[in-house]
Amino acid sequence: MTLAIRPVSPGFGAEVLGLDLSRPLGDNLFGEIRQAWLDANGILLLRGQDITPEQHIAFSRRFGELHIAGGNPALSRYYLPGHPEIYRVSNKKTDGVPQGREDAGTYWHSDGSWQPSPPMASLLHALEIPPIGGDTIFADMYQAHETLSAPMQRMLEGLQAVHSLAAAVLKTSYGKEYEGNFEEAAAKRATHPIVRTHPESGRKALFVNRGFTSHILGMAPRESDAILEFLFEHATLPENVYRHRWQRHDLVIWDNRCAMHYAVADYKAHGDRYMHRTTVKGDTPF
Ligand code: SIN
Repeated sequence: MTLAIRPVSPGFGAEVLGLDLSRPLGDNLFGEIRQAWLDANGILLLRGQDITPEQHIAFSRRFGELHIAGGNPALSRYYLPGHPEIYRVSNKKTDGVPQGREDAGTYWHSDGSWQPSPPMASLLHALEIPPIGGDTIFADMYQAHETLSAPMQRMLEGLQAVHSLAAAVLKTSYGKEYEGNFEEAAAKRATHPIVRTHPESGRKALFVNRGFTSHILGMAPRESDAILEFLFEHATLPENVYRHRWQRHDLVIWDNRCAMHYAVADYKAHGDRYMHRTTVKGDTPF
């Protein structure tokens, strides 16, 4: 079978048509899906996937080993009981108990970039969608790099930046999760090249994000701040982004090595949002 695919935006991202993940999926077909995902610069949409958590997990495992709940109990409570591979993202509460992490990812980031080996991919499945709002915006970090001038690319080559959870605690919804626990967040940090090479495509991608990247190593703070600010702004120019309007049972797979994303928390006056995410482990950026 050859997959039916159409672009979701002029720049990047693609939708696979006519596939039902509740049915068995052969290795050849999975190979085509994976290639389509790489070719679409790391954003692939499959609509109408009425799948169980087990099927979501089984499909995600085809991409690689999955991250499971553990570590900070403040975050572990958001995993689906009985399914430690599924992280729940939601504003919903039952009897006052959160049914998922509210405001997860409501800032530009690449998942877990503060880790020495950040996640390779994430697969987000929409189970309940508000009638309006709650979109996710993706930025193409290949294009962000390719549209820099040659002198700017040369300057960035070889530079390293620090990514830290503490940076996110100070600036994002992580502040709520690590309240009174800043020391633990401060210990979670890693240094990565500002321009990374995608290990499968061989292409270069910008690898900094507003949520987790705190500073460029070896630069004076005001130099680092100015350059990072320029890169954050450049990466999220309208030409570099795709805004996904969710439908119930959409599954979106993104590649954290060449895309970053932003969950828009504008929907709460209109309805509830409930999503399941699996996270595939990754390699050390180079
Ligand atoms: C995330 O950053 O994983 C959450 C994305 C979303 O809820 O749209």
